[in-house]
Amino acid sequence: MICLGIESTAHTFGVGICKGKTILSDKRAVYKPPLGSGIHPKKAAQHHAAMALQTIEGALSSAHLKLKDIDLIAFSQGPGLPPCLQVGLIAAKSLAEKGKKPLIGVNHCLAHVEIGKLITGANDPIVVYVSGGNTQILGYTDGRYRVFGETEDIALGNALDSFARKIGLPHPGGPVIEKMAKSGKKYIKLPYVVKGMDLSFSGIVTAAVREYSQKGQLVSNLCFSIQETCFAMLTEVTERALAHTGKKEVLVTGGVAASGRLKQMLRIMCKERGAKLYFVPKKYSGDNGVMIALTGLLVYKHGIKPLKGTIKIKQKWRIDE
Ligand code: ATP
Ligand code: FE2
Repeated sequence: MICLGIESTAHTFGVGICKGKTILSDKRAVYKPPLGSGIHPKKAAQHHAAMALQTIEGALSSAHLKLKDIDLIAFSQGPGLPPCLQVGLIAAKSLAEKGKKPLIGVNHCLAHVEIGKLITGANDPIVVYVSGGNTQILGYTDGRYRVFGETEDIALGNALDSFARKIGLPHPGGPVIEKMAKSGKKYIKLPYVVKGMDLSFSGIVTAAVREYSQKGQLVSNLCFSIQETCFAMLTEVTERALAHTGKKEVLVTGGVAASGRLKQMLRIMCKERGAKLYFVPKKYSGDNGVMIALTGLLVYKHGIKPLKGTIKIKQKWRIDE
């Protein structure tokens, strides 16, 4: 069975085509906001609308396929930015109608997990999903994905970016902080906020900025300290998720997974527990259409009915729903 998947939750309009677990094409058009400003939902949506047709046609032609050869259309139904999601819905719906194909709505977070499993070969992992916009510890038990832990406020990547911006470091902050932290020698105490299985990062950013502006602490020491604190919190919750579920694998995805220090901490923890650790390579940890196509096939094969009639986007759709 061949599925064409459309991703449009945020900055990427992606179209992927999968035949079972084989990737036939992967086209992406990425909206880049002007330097120094964040993503503007309506402008991103305009970008996606302008790029939709050529990206879809590009994906079909690079797979040497026509719409009639596709068995299933899938799209990212949520969570995401509503104007962007709307473009994906319209594109997917018109393809499905034109080609008389079944239409499947895919959960974007689930798609990150499923492509991670496919690419790394992880079977039943605890998933650490850490990006600019998400921080969740996930796993599959009793027939559905569960959120074992998550941030109560901002995502870890967002926290790093925001700290960097507030002390005048360039965007994205994560890699810059990682570099500066290498020359940090002194740990400056920052709030360590783990509540049960949940995390909170915004107070850490506030405290670190205060240490910089009011106490004149060195940037290198603060970068070192913010990494040590945030990554230790994440590692602690991941370890507890392993302990609770008895799982023996950890899968890390999202942009923050590129961090060498986070990798190191998770590696030590997994070694101590005898768990296998997998990292999703950058190419597939970012948003793409392939993950939507792949997950669309899985969802369809598991008997979830194709969408009909009036279809709505699901801005806040959680993986455990
Ligand atoms: P999503 O929409 O899924 O939340 P996103 O586009 O916001 O994704 P990604 O592209 O997955 O996010 O990741 C970007 C984040 O990763 C940024 O916050 C960036 O600072 C962070 N990052 C990138 N490299 C590193 C690194 N080496 N160390 C720490 N953080 C990093
Ligand atoms: Fe994403």
